[in-house]
Amino acid sequence: MRDKIREIEKSAIEEIALAADAGALEKARVKYLGRKGLITELFKNMGGVFPADRAEVGKLINSLKETVSKAFDDKTPGLSGGRDSKAQKIDITLPGIVREVGHLHPISKTIEEICGVFISLGFKIVEGPEIENEHYNFEALNIPLEHPSRDAFDTFYLADKWLLRSHTSPVQVRFMEKNKPPFAIVIPGKVYRPDATDASHSFMFHQVEGLAVSDNIKFSDLKGALTLFARQMFGEKIKMRFRPSFFPFTEPSAEVDISCILCSNELRSTIPALPAGRHDSRKCSLCGGKGWIEILGAGMVNPKVFKNVGYNPEKTTGFAFGMGVERIAILKYGITDIRMFFENDIRFLRQF
Ligand code: DAH
Repeated sequence: MRDKIREIEKSAIEEIALAADAGALEKARVKYLGRKGLITELFKNMGGVFPADRAEVGKLINSLKETVSKAFDDKTPGLSGGRDSKAQKIDITLPGIVREVGHLHPISKTIEEICGVFISLGFKIVEGPEIENEHYNFEALNIPLEHPSRDAFDTFYLADKWLLRSHTSPVQVRFMEKNKPPFAIVIPGKVYRPDATDASHSFMFHQVEGLAVSDNIKFSDLKGALTLFARQMFGEKIKMRFRPSFFPFTEPSAEVDISCILCSNELRSTIPALPAGRHDSRKCSLCGGKGWIEILGAGMVNPKVFKNVGYNPEKTTGFAFGMGVERIAILKYGITDIRMFFENDIRFLRQF
């Protein structure tokens, strides 16, 4: 037994010394210290040792185990990819762990895209608070209390005169109070209205507001900027139409339509039954046959608004516009239900 112990010690030390890499060392470790290793076997064979010798032999095997273990430990750091290093544990045949890379929400993407067009025209991005007061949300924008137009901008009310802004237009006022013309800004953000939720309404949605103010801004500047915007968003072939409308904070005001992207431009080819230039209400689910889709409100800033922020309305001119981001995204991506943006269904979001 003693000879055997000595023999094992000698060969183990030799093999450890000769092990050229982590693999060889591990093999040797299994051979000597593994569950069925030579040293482990020695312990198992203690039953065959004379009882009188057991204590001594036990000590010898223990010290053999210690010596060999230490030899392994001393050797390990010297080898590339030692037993405890990660390299050893990696099984390159296993499939890798795929880390899911997130991406922007379609609404954020659309906001970036909309703002990007105006940034290329020299506009700067400005933001404002979602919790507003009646002055900024209504009065300063020439929406007086008791005036019927206030209904269109109804919202959720908080304590006192505070409320959740129902449009991004109040940021126009906040910005003008602190800055002097000339400037051109776009204002993206969330807005709130107490609408019952359905496929086309949400109590919270996003808008991008625009405001350009100087001493000689004309309606043609507004048309030029918005035409460029529509072409960049929806393609060069898109047509635009400015319909006279009313907003308390602009005068004159317009609602801006684009030609229906489903039935009156290049996409028409996907509806073969509909001949060019003819709109059929039974056929087009998007524009209802009108051939036009409203995308935003706009106009020349009402002199009353300039007065409210301390500008001289005689010397100051400007245009403003406001659009719903969800509406733009719905048109651009052919989405049928606004609720999809807020349900966080990964199967929907993955498509963008
Ligand atoms: N604030 C309006 C809304 O929420 C949109 C709008 C229309 C903004 C005309 C404007 C504008 O700046 O000139 O319906």
